This record gives sequence, C-alpha cells and structure tokens, in this order.
Amino acid sequence: MTDRYAVFGNPIGHSKSPRIHALFAAQTGQDISYQAILADKHGFAAAVDTFIAASTGLARGANVTVPFKEEAFRLAVQRTSRAEAAGAVNTLSFEAGRIIGDNTDGAGLVRDLKHNLGCDPAGRRILLLGAGGAARGVILPLLLEGPAKLMIANRTEETAARLALEFARLPGCAVGVKPEGAGFPQLAGCAFDLVINATSAGLSGAALPLPAGTYAPRCVAYEMLYGRETAFMTHARAAGARVADGMGMLVEQAAEAFFVWRGIRPHTAPVLAALKEK
Ligand code: ATR
Repeated sequence: MTDRYAVFGNPIGHSKSPRIHALFAAQTGQDISYQAILADKHGFAAAVDTFIAASTGLARGANVTVPFKEEAFRLAVQRTSRAEAAGAVNTLSFEAGRIIGDNTDGAGLVRDLKHNLGCDPAGRRILLLGAGGAARGVILPLLLEGPAKLMIANRTEETAARLALEFARLPGCAVGVKPEGAGFPQLAGCAFDLVINATSAGLSGAALPLPAGTYAPRCVAYEMLYGRETAFMTHARAAGARVADGMGMLVEQAAEAFFVWRGIRPHTAPVLAALKEK
C-alpha cells in the first residue's frame, strides 16, 4: 500500500519537488508516491479534497507552493508554531481526517546555510531584503539561531518596519536580538556578514539599490530564487561576497517535509548534486 503525497501550485509544471521526493524515497527505502497537481487559482481547497478522496485512505500529506501558502494556512485545523509565525503553510499532513499545517521553508534555509554553506547565522549581522511572504517565512528560524543583528530592509519601508515590530513582539523572540526595519537608503554605513535576498526583484531582472559597503569582508550573499543569475547575485559577487542561490533551500525544505511525514531525514547532498547536474 503506497502512501500518497502531492505538491499543489499554480503554475506547477516547473516543480522539482516530485523528483526530489522520488530521490529521497529511493534513498531511504520508503514506499511513497508524489505527484505535482495544478490547482485552479480559486480551487485550492477543492483540489486538496479531490486528492484525498481519490487516494482511498492513502493520502498522507502535501506540499504547497505559490500562490496557495496562505490559503493552506487557513485550511489547516492545527498549525505548528513555525507555521503560525510564518503566516503560511508549505507542508500539510493528513492525520485521521485532520489537516495539520507546517512550514519548513525557514528550517530549509537555516539548514542550507549551516550544513551546506558553512555559514552559521549565530553571531552574524544579517540583512534580510524584502518584507513579503518569502521574508516572513524565515524570520523566526533565523532569530532562533542567535544572530548578532537582524535588519529587514524593504523597498516600501513601512512594510519592513511593521514586520520587524511584529516579530520583536513575538514571545519566542523575547531573548536575543529584536529585528529592525528599514528602507534601502537607511542601510548606508551598515555592513553585514550575511545578506539574504527574499524579494522577488530577480524575477523581473531588477537590481536592488544597496549602498556600497553593505557586504562585510567574507560576507555570504544568499539569493532565495534559484535557476537564474539575478542582478543581486551579480552585484554581490562584484562586491566580494560569496554567493549562493536557493537551490539548497529548496532541497532542504523538502527534506524537512519528508522528515515531518516519514520520521526519517534523507541525505540531501546527493540530491542537491543531482539537481545541479541537470
Ligand atoms: P513573496 O511571497 O515572494 O515574498 P510578495 O509578498 O509579493 O512575494 O513580496 C515581494 C517582495 O519583493 C516585497 O518585499 C517587494 O517590495 P515592496 O514591499 O516594496 O513591494 C519586493 N520587491 C519586488 N520587486 C522589487 C524590486 N524591483 N525592487 C525592490 N523590491 C522588490
């Protein structure tokens, strides 16, 4: 009896998740199937219902990607604290007729930084660019690593300020640093050890107006997008930073979801290598 999983999104044709989970399953000897499902923009909940009904009791979970992560948050009857903080759900578990929501994006980023890139956020001055859903999802996991500073900078300054205040008030963040919010011009004179681009600027080819001196010596510049060289990556490299894209985060968030569902943590290095080879 093969347990069934799926990823829901729109669009979904580009998704690497079926391949990643097939590689995890083969590596760990788990008997699962994992398919990509294109849900109608207004039909996410119905698509999940259909998947569960068609799986005759074997649907165990699902991943959720753009644009359904907030809707998945609302669909879940129970949510983990990291999903609550993210305000979005990328991992659903179907347990005895109940839908449980989790968010593995932030854990995936932190794991990629620490284990694949040798860049422990602890004690670092971190600059997080962007204040949308992608940024929100990684704030709590980064804060829990104990950075020296977490600055959230956004084109629309008020959004960054609001987001920073929200997380500064979270009970889980009572110890350690409080995030700060800023617009890009306010970054002048500040240097960072880790700069994470969570804006969608790379999708349109836009550059970010970061002041000179943003990148401290030996800084790591992390682009959450993958599969393309963005202006952020090009500029960071030119400024002397070590640059990484979001492919590692993609694989690590999948591994975390696999762990949530199956209780087994797959080795990610061979899977990441296989994806990069392609
Ligand atoms: P996501 O879920 O990917 O975070 P989003 O919620 O639409 O998507 O947020 C997009 C983020 O990218 C925002 O922080 C946005 O800045 P604004 O709040 O000012 O809109 C940022 N962004 C998008 N295009 C940008 C650009 N060309 N320059 C700078 N920031 C950009």
